[in-house]
Amino acid sequence: MSEKFYITTPIYYPSRKFTLGNCYTTVICDAVARFNKLLGKDVFFMTGTDEHGQKIAQAAKNANKTEMEYLDEIIADAKSLWKLLNIDYDKFIRTTDDYHVKSVQKIFRELYDKGYIYKSKYKGKYCVPCESFWTESQLVDGKCPDCHRDVIDQEEEAYFFKLSEFGDKLLKLYKDNPEFLKPESRVNEMITNFIKPGLDDLCVTRTSVKWGIPVDFDPKHTIYVWIDALTNYITGLGYGTEDDSLYKNYWPADVHVIGKEIVRFHAIIWPAILMALDIPLPKRVFGHGWLLFGGDKLSKSKTTGTAECVDPRILAPRYTADAVRYILLREIPFGSDGNYTTELFLNHINSDLANNYGNLVSRTFSMLKKYRNSIVPKFEEPVEEIDKDLFETITKSANDAKKYIESNFDVSKALASIFDIFSKANKYIEVTEPYRLAKDEAKADRLDAVLRNLLEAIKAGTILLSAFLPDCSKKVLDALHLKNVKFKDVLNNDLLLTGEMVDELGILFPRLDVQKELEELSKIAEGK
Ligand code: MSP
Repeated sequence: MSEKFYITTPIYYPSRKFTLGNCYTTVICDAVARFNKLLGKDVFFMTGTDEHGQKIAQAAKNANKTEMEYLDEIIADAKSLWKLLNIDYDKFIRTTDDYHVKSVQKIFRELYDKGYIYKSKYKGKYCVPCESFWTESQLVDGKCPDCHRDVIDQEEEAYFFKLSEFGDKLLKLYKDNPEFLKPESRVNEMITNFIKPGLDDLCVTRTSVKWGIPVDFDPKHTIYVWIDALTNYITGLGYGTEDDSLYKNYWPADVHVIGKEIVRFHAIIWPAILMALDIPLPKRVFGHGWLLFGGDKLSKSKTTGTAECVDPRILAPRYTADAVRYILLREIPFGSDGNYTTELFLNHINSDLANNYGNLVSRTFSMLKKYRNSIVPKFEEPVEEIDKDLFETITKSANDAKKYIESNFDVSKALASIFDIFSKANKYIEVTEPYRLAKDEAKADRLDAVLRNLLEAIKAGTILLSAFLPDCSKKVLDALHLKNVKFKDVLNNDLLLTGEMVDELGILFPRLDVQKELEELSKIAEGK
């Protein structure tokens, strides 16, 4: 039986259309899921949407739609965005799904029956027109952060979860399982900022929010945010339903990948809920940094004075989904923040995708066609130093990529390792000079060896790349007649069939005129 691997994205708020920022987490999870499939694991990848709460109800109202009409449109757009970016999820959970609603009610009742949830009074600052409670720290100049009007002190009856009981258990969890929360710096944040000052019990229902899951034994209360949202990771597997086979198979999750702003909920509240339910904890929570647009987390159309188009729905069809995936996966050191600019995006397409990978593939295929009628020459064990060096790079890069993904989900370093293969192979062409070898009949064997070694480098790198850039790698693997490849095939030099003809390949990534594209994109962003 193959090893299981269960990975999740956060479930996103569909209060507006998804941004490139949301794509960041999703593309990372997709690449990690695909890489684990390459490793032969039995992978389950879940994403979805967090559909309850005042903000959604308000957004629907503003759009003159019912909540479900509004949500269905955003979710249809989200699903088509994931399709566009080749996100190969196994399950898309919506918190309005019937099975989720029922399971959440069941979980709530169980926590109540076990004494972890009790009824009390919630006190807070209340904005009457917005029908919203705010904490002191959320207020802006003492006023409602949404409508900027005065707020009043208000109390309402609410249920609370006994989070205060879990401080020591959480400290023990972090101490006994240093892998639980990554990067490590986030553990200190949790301890210093939240656990050491003392955890307060958590208000888990509202009577003022109508768009939510009602508590089944006290329906004027709706279940507020976190018990509804966090539990998606188990209800999506069927926990609490008649068919919980996925839950039995895949839980506990191998990793919840989330943005750093919601680490607290995943590293404090979620484990506490699971402990209270007596359910095993996820193996790891990874809090990544933000993709910043002119220093801001939200992608705005104007960031640096000139308009920038950061809509993946425009960028992917124009430059390929792989190019969008590439910038998201490569540019940000995993765990830290990183800046996105259109110029960086376009320059990466040219330098890495067109000049490095694309060029290697097109030069090799065209030399193979010109000198060997596109027929794969036979493989010989490398004897020359330069050949050995190329194969050493392939082996090291493959092992490094695996190590980076398995130990730390570090997609950026893994991709950099894979591109080392392509850089090395491009240098190999310059040093071995196949175009010179072709002129000398006596060097025919050497030319065969050089071309085959280049094909091996392309094959190896492309198999690894298939987890990150599925479209271009499929084209190349198809041209090489390779199907259903796995990680173990990377170093198998007998996979390519000697004497077989490879197919023609078009240009994978045309070189861009960056200045021209910047202008075009700017016009698009300004709606011209
Ligand atoms: N609904 C909650 C999560 C519940 S999970 C049980 C939520 N939703 S959200 O729509 O606000 O999405 C937040 C997530 O989107 C972040 O955690 C992050 O994964 C992703 N990102 C949104 N903008 C981002 C950037 N600019 N950069 C990186 N990630 C960003 O919070």
